[in-house]
Amino acid sequence: MTADDLRRRPIGVFDSGLGGLTVLRALHERLPCEDIVYFGDTARVPYGTKGERTVAAFARQDAGLLQGLGVKMVVVACNTASAFALDDLREVLDVPVLGVIEPGVDTALRRTAGGPVGVIGTSGTIRSGRYQAGLATKLSGERIFVQECPLFVPLVEEGMAGHRVTALVMEDYLAPLRNAGIDTLILGCTHYPLLKDDIRRAMGAQVALVDSAEALAEAAAAHLAELSLRRRDSGEAEIRDREGELAFLLSDIPWKFAEIGARFLGKPITGVRTVGLDELEEAGRRLGPAPAPTERD
Ligand code: DGL
Repeated sequence: MTADDLRRRPIGVFDSGLGGLTVLRALHERLPCEDIVYFGDTARVPYGTKGERTVAAFARQDAGLLQGLGVKMVVVACNTASAFALDDLREVLDVPVLGVIEPGVDTALRRTAGGPVGVIGTSGTIRSGRYQAGLATKLSGERIFVQECPLFVPLVEEGMAGHRVTALVMEDYLAPLRNAGIDTLILGCTHYPLLKDDIRRAMGAQVALVDSAEALAEAAAAHLAELSLRRRDSGEAEIRDREGELAFLLSDIPWKFAEIGARFLGKPITGVRTVGLDELEEAGRRLGPAPAPTERD
């Protein structure tokens, strides 16, 4: 296989559902020539409330599906799956794997002006301790504040950004972070970029918000460039200069799919293929036996 054959391959992105479309959108903006295939596990969402083993097993199946489609890189758009499965996926996949946590942490460490740093995410992401461990490589424990925000995902899915109910929930979740005087806040969940205005109102304009979708798009572009795997690295104009195509795979078509999908992606989603759970399980099995239980199981 030539280098150009590899460059032509799509980037694979997966998420627990439709929230990862925020990551797809950022990636498509950053790398407009690249084809991207998105898989959303809409039949089994949410991952954020589920245990480590379940999320890790689902993530293997999701990533295995993408690898089977011949992608050149797998992007784990879901923060919860990045928290619980990234190490395992890096071991079992044959292609580079990027998650959202490292880029988010790096960006936050660059942005903080010396004050405390906050992280918000699903229960799984926060309880995994992954963001805290990443920040702790440079910050002392007293400068790290975290908060689980389990109600944010359904609020976003119901289109309630800007709603007074959201403002009330937000006050409850974010007051401790505001009182801690954080200067930087990592939005550690696919859904939170859609709440940016509400979060800014609750936290004040002086707090820098780190959007993990944007951070990841930068990291993916840099990694592909390092490996000379971007279409733009090709000498062939036919490979280099083109508008990338987007393909969508989902394990279920939820009732409000069109409305929610367009909200996350910023435009209507067309040409969706559904993937059965049997196909996913088979993709997981192809990667080998399930990972051994961890101390938390
Ligand atoms: N995609 C998930 C995340 O970023 C949020 C939705 C879910 O709980 O599955 O953590």
